[in-house]
Amino acid sequence: MKPSVIDLRSDTVTQPSAAMKQAMCEAPLGDDVYGEDPTVNRLQEEMAALFGKEAGLFVPTGVMSNQLAIKAWTSPGDEVIVERESHIFNYETAAPSMMSAVQLNPVAGAGGVLAAEDVEATVRPDAYYYPRTTLVCIENTHNRMGGTLFPIEAMRSLQDFCRMRAIGLHLDGARIWNAHIASGTPLVDFGSAVDSISICFSKGLGAPVGSMLLGSRDLITRAHKYRKIYGGGMRQAGMLAAAALHAVEHHLPLLVDDHRRARTFAAALTQCSAFHVDITRVQSNMVLLDFSNATMRAAEAQKRLRDAGIEIGMGMGDMLRAVFHLDLDDSCLTQSIDIFTRLFD
Ligand SMILES: Cc1ncc(COP(=O)(O)O)c(C=O)c1O
Repeated sequence: MKPSVIDLRSDTVTQPSAAMKQAMCEAPLGDDVYGEDPTVNRLQEEMAALFGKEAGLFVPTGVMSNQLAIKAWTSPGDEVIVERESHIFNYETAAPSMMSAVQLNPVAGAGGVLAAEDVEATVRPDAYYYPRTTLVCIENTHNRMGGTLFPIEAMRSLQDFCRMRAIGLHLDGARIWNAHIASGTPLVDFGSAVDSISICFSKGLGAPVGSMLLGSRDLITRAHKYRKIYGGGMRQAGMLAAAALHAVEHHLPLLVDDHRRARTFAAALTQCSAFHVDITRVQSNMVLLDFSNATMRAAEAQKRLRDAGIEIGMGMGDMLRAVFHLDLDDSCLTQSIDIFTRLFD
């Protein structure tokens, strides 16, 4: 069914399909706080195998997954190196300082990619008056940069450096599925390039709820305890795990269409004079429309689009961000291009 409003704000706005709801209703369930939910256990085992990690922990949100990783990797007073535009640094409400009592040290990466040299220059020397650098966090694909890729080679050279200095490397892989589909890099290769990963089922894959932290058994055992402390111990969570399993099985291959639609949309909009689209940054399901050199402000364009039946989010600075997802088909794409070209040509 064609939606009355075209919602380009985020890939988190999708509705669970009828088939997904059926899978949720039919899932075998148990009490996951006792470790007895067979569907949660299956999801944890399957995702650990998919990314080549020893264990996984199902959690409600991507934020909880990232924060559990930081908590499990660090001690109070440590320092964590993050990319300056990362989700962890910008959108997780300073949780690392509240929940883990650590300091974040933000480093700007070119297009969101943290280079090993930049991290090397930022790691604290070993002296009593410095904080101890215990963790580096990266993001792939990169949300604020507009869904850009962190190439596997760059991940590996960062990993080599982190290993040499005995620093953990955590990947916020909320959209690692998009990175996999866009680059062709196997999921297991992403898994082997980092020490822990947070994956989300509720972004491009279209599940209503659910994320997972993956890592060594020891790390996951520690995170399990903290999940309970954070209030994330769920009971018959197999209903949600079933949605995640359905999403991975049926929706992962569909991301290729989201990426194609984003590219088509971006290419069509390069004609518009009201804003600039950097086509080289359209690498997955997002398109950034840059109004910084335009006469119209992004907020005004957002309002005009809303009046014309399109919801769109603000990006960094004076940008709008369009995100393609499971609930938008080719007719939504055509209609969006028509509306944009009519409003902004
Ligand atoms: C890159 C990234 N990491 C983490 C999150 C947090 O996920 P959640 O909203 O499930 O907490 C998001 C949310 O959009 C995200 O884009």
